[in-house]
Amino acid sequence: MAKDETLISAIGAVASNGMLGLAGWLPWDIPEELAYFEKTVAGAALVIGRLTYESMDVVPEDSFVVSRQADLVVRPGCSRVASVEEGLHRALATGKPVFVIGGASVYAAAWRYCHRFYLTRIERAFDGDSRFPESVQLSDWKVESETVRQLREYKSNTDVTCRFLIYQQINPLSLPETDCISVTG
Ligand SMILES: NC(=O)c1ccc[n+]([C@@H]2O[C@H](COP(=O)([O-])OP(=O)(O)OC[C@H]3O[C@@H](n4cnc5c(N)ncnc54)[C@H](OP(=O)(O)O)[C@@H]3O)[C@@H](O)[C@H]2O)c1
Repeated sequence: MAKDETLISAIGAVASNGMLGLAGWLPWDIPEELAYFEKTVAGAALVIGRLTYESMDVVPEDSFVVSRQADLVVRPGCSRVASVEEGLHRALATGKPVFVIGGASVYAAAWRYCHRFYLTRIERAFDGDSRFPESVQLSDWKVESETVRQLREYKSNTDVTCRFLIYQQINPLSLPETDCISVTG
């Protein structure tokens, strides 16, 4: 790894039928899974799709919101970026760990550059309108760790099996130089 290259990770959760989103939010209500997400990304610079960003109540500093809308106004501490690559460059420049937090379209554009993918596999099918991208072939990645927990899902008031996996991509693509780094936000 080059000396100025920080690890890029992605993080997300997916149902057994591939769903990851419903009506702009998550298809499930599993507070402990959300707490795992928050703990894992604490202190990191985030790369976020515009729709996911808009669904979040709290967005930490050094969040880079990917959008093709040049005039998008984002919250203080956040910046609009025109591409996932620009977002990753700007996030890396903070010197913090970098996490891509979705949604689906951002995972699809970012996975090539990711060293790790923290994925919670929720062992139940859920209704959804946003699906984990098929282009992210995690079966080709190495499983670095796996922890299985039974957690309460509050929409159904039942326990569900959650597999917390950390996948490692052995040879992620190097991030290309971007010609156009905007300084909005
Ligand atoms: N289960 C999970 O772990 C998880 C994680 C995150 C999100 N989610 C869910 O996923 C859903 C949202 O996902 P989504 O895929 O519909 O939306 P998204 O990725 O959050 O946002 C899509 C928007 O991001 C911008 N964008 C995406 N790719 C881009 C690119 N390559 N270049 C420039 N701009 C780009 C575009 O914004 P403009 O339209 O402004 O150009 C696009 O409309 C929500 O339901 C959310 O709750 C689930």
